[in-house]
Amino acid sequence: MSVHDRKLRFGICGLGFMGRTYFTHLRDHSRARVAALCDRDPDRRAGRWNDAVGNLDAAAASPTSDGVFASCAEFDELLAREDVDVVAITLPTSQHADLTVRAFSAGKHVLCEKPMALTVADCDRMIAAARSARRTLMIAQCIRFWPQYEVIKREVDAGAIGAVRMASLRRIASPPTYSAGGWLMRAEQSGGAAFDLHVHDVDFAQHLLGIPESVSAIGRVGASGGVDHVHAHYRYADGRFALIEGGWERHAPWPFVMEITVNGEDGTLHWNMNDGRQVLKF
Ligand SMILES: NC(=O)c1ccc[n+]([C@@H]2O[C@H](COP(=O)([O-])OP(=O)(O)OC[C@H]3O[C@@H](n4cnc5c(N)ncnc54)[C@H](O)[C@@H]3O)[C@@H](O)[C@H]2O)c1
Repeated sequence: MSVHDRKLRFGICGLGFMGRTYFTHLRDHSRARVAALCDRDPDRRAGRWNDAVGNLDAAAASPTSDGVFASCAEFDELLAREDVDVVAITLPTSQHADLTVRAFSAGKHVLCEKPMALTVADCDRMIAAARSARRTLMIAQCIRFWPQYEVIKREVDAGAIGAVRMASLRRIASPPTYSAGGWLMRAEQSGGAAFDLHVHDVDFAQHLLGIPESVSAIGRVGASGGVDHVHAHYRYADGRFALIEGGWERHAPWPFVMEITVNGEDGTLHWNMNDGRQVLKF
């Protein structure tokens, strides 16, 4: 039986905010199941992960209440398991590249959290390892699959607002205080907000509008030691442009905000997560 004919069996490494979110959604998926969980922290391995929170409310199931999963303290234990087809890497960003390469060496497919890695050289290493192992590497750029952003992409592609003139994308937060051991506020582990937050809108702008002809940006090095607020300006050869702003330097309790506006010749699409679920069309 090929891997395409049965449920993909996932091993999730890193049982924090994203790991528990993956668990919650994969355990009931029609094409997937969770085979194993891996974390260095024994509480997290036992499903005591209610303290693992992030910038959004996310449903969290506990493995103690349903099903039996292998529990691994070390990544190599997870890789050695024959009942794992895909390794989900939901670890601090600085670990993505090395662990992805090791997973490919063990013959696994990899679904790795964003941002892919902290350097272009590491990204290249991950891609080369996937190619040489003939396995699939997917980076979880989830905004492409976020319902409101999917609506905007579909509407734009269908010509609902005519030719696009400009887009504006924002993702603004207060400093993250919730990551395990505080790694998000250490740029050597997270890359700072330019990597951790802004990457979502960089990806979506390119998904929507393509690769720009030129980019200019200005940023501020903040408390993480990396760029914690950035204003970027994308220009396209045909005159379109995009303004993208991201950062986590607002003072708490600033409410996390993601927002997108796309202006076309015949209409405007707009969504701000704090104004409701509906994408507005003007
Ligand atoms: N797609 C999104 O919207 C989104 C949202 C939040 C985080 N993320 C990304 O997901 C990744 C994880 O972030 P998080 O918020 O879940 O982190 P977290 O701090 O909540 O959890 C990290 C977990 O990894 C464990 N861990 C660390 N090193 C380990 C190792 N070598 N082996 C086993 N376990 C280890 C820790 O014990 C902890 O439980 C990051 O790359 C982050 O940027 C993505």
